[in-house]
Amino acid sequence: MSASSPSVSPAIAHPTVEEFFESTWAAYAAILDNNYMCHREIFDALGNYLESHYRGRPFSLIDLGCGDARFIAKALRGTAVNRYVGYDIADTALAEAGRQLSHVPCTVELQEIDLMDALRSGDERFDVVFTSFAVHHLQTREKVEFFRQAARRVAPGGLLVMIDVMRAEGEDRIAYLQRYIGRARAQWTNLTENAIDAVCCHIDDRDFPEAPSALTRMAADAGFGAPTVLPAYCDHHTLIWQRTDAN
Ligand SMILES: C[S@@+](CC[C@H](N)C(=O)[O-])C[C@H]1O[C@@H](n2cnc3c(N)ncnc32)[C@H](O)[C@@H]1O
Repeated sequence: MSASSPSVSPAIAHPTVEEFFESTWAAYAAILDNNYMCHREIFDALGNYLESHYRGRPFSLIDLGCGDARFIAKALRGTAVNRYVGYDIADTALAEAGRQLSHVPCTVELQEIDLMDALRSGDERFDVVFTSFAVHHLQTREKVEFFRQAARRVAPGGLLVMIDVMRAEGEDRIAYLQRYIGRARAQWTNLTENAIDAVCCHIDDRDFPEAPSALTRMAADAGFGAPTVLPAYCDHHTLIWQRTDAN
């Protein structure tokens, strides 16, 4: 929508994803503080799902694009997670992730690395391959590769959990951006003017969400079955695939 969007000033700088999260983490933190992306409801539901799925059994989890990990840390507190590995390209966020995860009784490893490089370069399998609000920054062909690599890194019987912004079925990217940015400008009123401008510019430049059905097809091509779908809040969805022996 960049060329057609009246809501994003052409005069504003257009940082990369890494530059945005490095330099503007406070704006994203304010979105979390105000629950504008429904993290509270989504991660409460995820915590309940993981508790009832694992029922006290220990499991390992890799978090791709972990950010400050503040909500996954809360979701994991009622579980027996025994190993957490978090990857992100923004070291500002990773420093805060270390603090948030210090309350989770498991081994924690954090690394500043691109999530695709991390997936490709390792062989360790995890019980849960997890990602929240990061994969929509990848182009479609990279998302296809994401599912292939994620399938390689999920342990047999393990889970691939994807929380992300998603387009409505049949909606194109421009219509999605107009709708999402319009709602953000109307409702995210506790952000400063500079912060909302920076956030909307970032979304306009760098968000490439897919519809749930498109992600489900990519997952199927990588060998996953139908996902479990947790409740969605506005455009914020949770899809969970279980790796069967056939993967
Ligand atoms: C919207 S934030 C989400 C953070 C956290 N997962 C959450 O749910 O609040 C997106 C995060 O993904 C990270 N990110 C985006 N693209 C990435 C990539 N290619 N590799 C690693 N991290 C990435 C950003 O630095 C940022 O911390």
